[in-house]
Amino acid sequence: MTDRKGIILAGGSGTRLYPITHSLSKQLLPLYDKPMIYYPLSVLMLAGLREIAIITTPEDQDQFRRLLRDGSQWGMRFEYITQARPEGLAQAYILAEDFLGGAASTMVLGDNIFYGHDLPQLLKRAGSRPEGGTVFGYQVRDPERYGVVSFDREGTVLSIEEKPAKPRSNFAVTGIYVLDGSAPARARAVRPSERGELEITEVLTSYLSDGLLNVERMGRGFAWLDTGTHASLLDAGNFVRMIEERQNVKIGCPEEIAFSEGWIDEAALRTLSQLYLKTEYGQYLVRIADGG
Ligand code: DAU
Repeated sequence: MTDRKGIILAGGSGTRLYPITHSLSKQLLPLYDKPMIYYPLSVLMLAGLREIAIITTPEDQDQFRRLLRDGSQWGMRFEYITQARPEGLAQAYILAEDFLGGAASTMVLGDNIFYGHDLPQLLKRAGSRPEGGTVFGYQVRDPERYGVVSFDREGTVLSIEEKPAKPRSNFAVTGIYVLDGSAPARARAVRPSERGELEITEVLTSYLSDGLLNVERMGRGFAWLDTGTHASLLDAGNFVRMIEERQNVKIGCPEEIAFSEGWIDEAALRTLSQLYLKTEYGQYLVRIADGG
């Protein structure tokens, strides 16, 4: 079986953050001390994935390439795919079909920020299931803004609905999709919704109908941060700053994860640190190379 691959969906128009995102991709905006996309990228790295497709708008792709390059500097491989128009999350699987070549995948939305102690284990466990799909339910105050999953008393999943006016539960589906190799075929069967998008919830419902959907609850020990409004973007940045200053460690540092996974050696880490020596980020990389 081919190894599981990663996808970061980082297109979209970012209209809710205008004028900031008028000429700049949302997923490249700073979240405190690093670009937003570093966080979802780190999630995939913590899941052990080294081959990743990055889906962007045609206009923004050059900037993503300049930032992330081909991935080899971190012992990884990146492939860039363009999405001409934001026609829905499920379209990512159609666009990435050749890249996946039948492999299972874990997709993360480029603007979703996760933080939690057991995240690598959670993702690795979901990724080790040979068949079906796994998504994560997270309790929120405003489920109508998200895909919503409902359960029966035994915890069996009953439904997944996109932005329902009357949510059947308070559990939103987060932007991590751990799906088997059938995802592109399922996505091709989806028809555009009323808002003109290929909805990811339709792909998930297709797994659900086949009895192949697992929904795991992310408990209150996890933070799933919103970056959808100016205020929540600032709050997310402050959250990262608070944790990093308190603990003197970084959240979402690809160089550190690549080093700890053994994908790059100490000499490579020191070379990377030279790029940023004037910043606290660069000094942090030196500290990691020195042994923490
Ligand atoms: O954040 C989790 C939610 O993401 C899920 O609960 C929903 O089920 C799912 O549909 C999605 O909801 P949103 O409506 O909030 O997604 P949004 O349109 O904001 O897009 C999410 C990210 O994906 C955003 O960074 C832009 C990017 N995107 C979006 C679309 C529609 C693309 O790259 N291409 C697209 O075609």
